Amino acid sequence: MIKAIVYQSKTGHTQEYAESLSKELKIPCCSVRDAKEKVKKHDEIIYLSWVRATSLVGYKKMNKKYKICCVGAVGAYPKSTEYIEQLKTYNHIRQELFYLRGGINYEKLNKFYQKLLKIVGRAIAMENPRDKAMIQLFMVGGNFVNKKQLKPMIDSILEGRENDE
Ligand SMILES: Cc1cc2nc3c(=O)[nH]c(=O)nc-3n(C[C@H](O)[C@H](O)[C@H](O)COP(=O)(O)O)c2cc1C
Repeated sequence: MIKAIVYQSKTGHTQEYAESLSKELKIPCCSVRDAKEKVKKHDEIIYLSWVRATSLVGYKKMNKKYKICCVGAVGAYPKSTEYIEQLKTYNHIRQELFYLRGGINYEKLNKFYQKLLKIVGRAIAMENPRDKAMIQLFMVGGNFVNKKQLKPMIDSILEGRENDE
């Protein structure tokens, strides 16, 4: 039985998804920090986190500590089968991975990350000058959070529940 949704969020997009998922599935959610007290070692959880330079933040550690049934990866890049496969391979993820598009919120990032993302934005502009949407996202910011993106994840978890009964 899934005991909790545990999330790691830097600027709030992942937290928003975790809270929506929690409401839909009626499973409590908490941050990685709070999970230290609230969730027991080896409990079954859903893990949601954000993507930083292709790495799913905290996954390796959480995968050792808890029994993760599926993973939600929140990133700024558009969703694609290729990108999901890349994330799974790069992070050695064996569970099912659901990609959720987050966004970039410059106001909540420190100066270091702000500078880093501007560099990424400039690199995108050099390589793909026609990709105006991505250049805009990385240079200025943007928000693509949409609860509808959770549907495949919710359906899969509910199906798993039915099969367990
Ligand atoms: C330093 C840095 C590196 C990032 N690298 C990636 C990346 O490789 N792929 C991606 O899709 N998004 C990347 N992002 C975008 C974040 O994944 C995105 O902003 C996400 O919504 C953050 O989630 P949060 O609001 O829960 O912290 C990066 C963001 C930062 C600040």
